[in-house]
Amino acid sequence: MSDAKKLENNPPTKFLLNNLSEIPIPKGKAIEIGCGGGSDTAYLIRKGWEVLALDACEEAKECCLKKLITEDEKKRFKFICGDFQNIDLPKCDLLIMFKVLNYCLRKELQSRWKKIEDCIAEDGFFVGSFLSRDHDLAKEAPDKIFLNYQETEELFKNFNIIYFECEISHEAKSLRTGEKIHSEKYSIIAQKKKNLVV
Ligand SMILES: C[S@@+](CC[C@H](N)C(=O)[O-])C[C@H]1O[C@@H](n2cnc3c(N)ncnc32)[C@H](O)[C@@H]1O
Repeated sequence: MSDAKKLENNPPTKFLLNNLSEIPIPKGKAIEIGCGGGSDTAYLIRKGWEVLALDACEEAKECCLKKLITEDEKKRFKFICGDFQNIDLPKCDLLIMFKVLNYCLRKELQSRWKKIEDCIAEDGFFVGSFLSRDHDLAKEAPDKIFLNYQETEELFKNFNIIYFECEISHEAKSLRTGEKIHSEKYSIIAQKKKNLVV
């Protein structure tokens, strides 16, 4: 079963629910990278955003669509299937990405982060999370992207960090095996700086 299907019945990410209303983002264009079961994309759409959702798995589109009720909600939803690195991404006011970079190779971190950073408009926001190097899954996949605190902070040098949280849980479950695992992740809200010279 795909990860999207496994995540289909999950509620929206708590970090997004708890913090989206607290920050001054005017509703506009959003991108979700790795939308999976679609709960976060559907949540943003219900809140008035127009969302381009991306996932490497085609089934994710159906998972998102099932959660959209009105024609207006469906009109504000677009989906592209593929590796986000190979997709032409338009500029957005908000990019959300929860627990996706750990699927990608560590040696690609810089190019993947540049892709993400480039599609966020000046003054636009990033809201998302990264698995830490102390997450149990990091032991199984040392070639994938798991970050420590400094590396996470370094990614955001072109942003002002508004909120940073390290969440540790012993109740998380592995998507692959369903077994309990030690989970450690960094969740971040950051606003892209203006007038960057790249
Ligand atoms: C752990 S799931 C998280 C889904 C959702 N963000 C959430 O928090 O519930 C990761 C999702 O990212 C997708 N994904 C992984 N690598 C990707 C890539 N390079 N491009 C697009 N989607 C990717 C997977 O197919 C999967 O649906």
